[in-house]
Amino acid sequence: MKPTLGVCYYPEHWPEEMWADDAARMVETGLTWVRIGEFAWSRMEPDPGDLQLDWLDRAIETLGSAGLKVILGTPTATPPRWMLDKHPDMLAVDAEGRPRKFGSRRHYCFSHQGYLEDCRRITRILAKRYGRNPHIQAWQTDNEYGCHDTTISYSDAAREAFRDWLAQRYQSPDVLNRAWGNVFWSMEYRDFNDIELPNLTVTEPNPAHVMAFRRFASDQVVRFNRAQVDIIRRHSDAPILHNYMGRVTDFDHFDVGADLDIASWDSYPIGFLSDRLGADEAQKKRFLKQGDPDFQAFHHDLYRAVGRGRWWVMEQQPGPVNWAPWNPAPLPGMARLWAWEAFAHGAETVCYFRWRQAPFAQEQMHAGLLRPDSQAAPALAEAAQVAREIEQLPDTDPAQADVAIVFDYASQWAWEIQPQGADFDYFALVFDTYRALRRLGLNVDFLPPDSGDLSPYRAVFIPGAVTLKSGLLEALATYDGLAVLGPRTNSKTDEMAIRLPLPPDLPGLDATVSLVESLPPGAEMPLAEGGANTRWFEALEGATDVVETTDDGRPYLVREGNLLYLAGWPDDTAFARITARVCKEAGLSTVEMPGGLRQRLTAGHRFLFNYNAVPVTHDGITIPAAGVHWQAQ
Ligand code: GAL
Repeated sequence: MKPTLGVCYYPEHWPEEMWADDAARMVETGLTWVRIGEFAWSRMEPDPGDLQLDWLDRAIETLGSAGLKVILGTPTATPPRWMLDKHPDMLAVDAEGRPRKFGSRRHYCFSHQGYLEDCRRITRILAKRYGRNPHIQAWQTDNEYGCHDTTISYSDAAREAFRDWLAQRYQSPDVLNRAWGNVFWSMEYRDFNDIELPNLTVTEPNPAHVMAFRRFASDQVVRFNRAQVDIIRRHSDAPILHNYMGRVTDFDHFDVGADLDIASWDSYPIGFLSDRLGADEAQKKRFLKQGDPDFQAFHHDLYRAVGRGRWWVMEQQPGPVNWAPWNPAPLPGMARLWAWEAFAHGAETVCYFRWRQAPFAQEQMHAGLLRPDSQAAPALAEAAQVAREIEQLPDTDPAQADVAIVFDYASQWAWEIQPQGADFDYFALVFDTYRALRRLGLNVDFLPPDSGDLSPYRAVFIPGAVTLKSGLLEALATYDGLAVLGPRTNSKTDEMAIRLPLPPDLPGLDATVSLVESLPPGAEMPLAEGGANTRWFEALEGATDVVETTDDGRPYLVREGNLLYLAGWPDDTAFARITARVCKEAGLSTVEMPGGLRQRLTAGHRFLFNYNAVPVTHDGITIPAAGVHWQAQ
């Protein structure tokens, strides 16, 4: 596969006289794609029903006839001000009961039926008008669902829709009461219409209630997205994408992805390092101008799974952003490295965000490929270099990964609702597992929680998955690779109750978690073979083989046949040892990657990415700071 490059562009921000030059310059840079339209509703329809699309026709024609393929975004993340006059109650409401105001973006509640109808209407207008336009080669629905904490809303519309959702799921209040255990604290309901949203309760609401609400909120995103997809498909054969984000887990991306043709995500490595990863100060300092060496790859691999093999980076950081606590400029070379790393993980396309830095409004401090005065910003030359290199490189077809991790959005919600220890975080646990495997030089795939086929992998890790689905349990029963489960895996029912028989309740593994404890920072438990357990520990009973113990002799990693269970959260040292031990036993060849250097194998090449600010020598090859190296293999 030959990957391609693109850019995000806002014709409505610039005088029309500039469009043709911009388009020519994009083509000259070697860009193939241009994404437009996703925030332009107030220019498409300045007054209700007054459609002004001639400018968009001309923009598409100008860009398309210059040779660019256009991705058209539906503008539903930015309803114009008049929409609020039409639907005064369409705003999302925060947990304190306050409506979120107009004046930025994403000011809508997913459950508002009237706004959904208007989204259908504008989508239909665009799909009919441009569905067969040869320049429109892809569609984007909305923009970054969930961004700015917008998945969850405590509005009246959400409450009504939640009651309907509950009635459909449980059929009768008695069934719901039993499922949730509402006899506790006399929380029993006599009518679905008595059930409130789980905010503003005196103390914590029932975890089953919150879990139902989180599932509902996720389903509302799916429904909202599907409404647009169904319309676009009727009028266009072009693929439909959505641009997801980094570390956003409030809705089930696999469920949304099932309705789309291609997944994409917005990658801001330097912003994410300082504001989304929870990295320690040393890590932040070391990778200040590069981003974390595993965060991008993690999402590339996750979104490859969400897109069932097809995925893009829809927005790639080109220079300093405006929204992190501090916004350093990338090291020279990083705008190239990030693109190549995405391609090596199978991205079909990487689009830089954005073409020209806007001198006005919220993102005026956010770099583009061009400065506000249209001079080249540093990333322009790097994008052009990537475009030239794509021509020289034969392909980036994927190689089969040998190891996989199951990722389950519902587990993130479960552990947010009931963390038990303040720093128990599902995403962080999965990320630590992923990092440990990447440090061994392995290609890693992610699998959805209902995966029924594990056979392509020699080892599968299922950390923290709250409730194992029947398909995955069946797949485990016939799997002949090594499966590593725990901590907390399969510890709850679908309704957030403790399983009986006690967890992990896995056929073929005679181990029972008899007690769990959470541990504050500083209470690490040394392990017999080195390193320590952190944050979480489970006492295990049963007759399984003990592979590793704590320093004081308690089982830590146990095994029966090809099933292993991990009773806690290892620190870096212990994770490195345990993953290496499992991979060795599974017959995988691993390497110990030098710090900040990562590799990725494609069908024909081995890629090395140096996230360090200094050159690194590995296997006799010296890779410069922020450098990329590839060789045929
Ligand atoms: C993304 C968003 C873009 C832009 C960008 C700035 O989250 O989709 O519209 O705001 O961030 O970094």
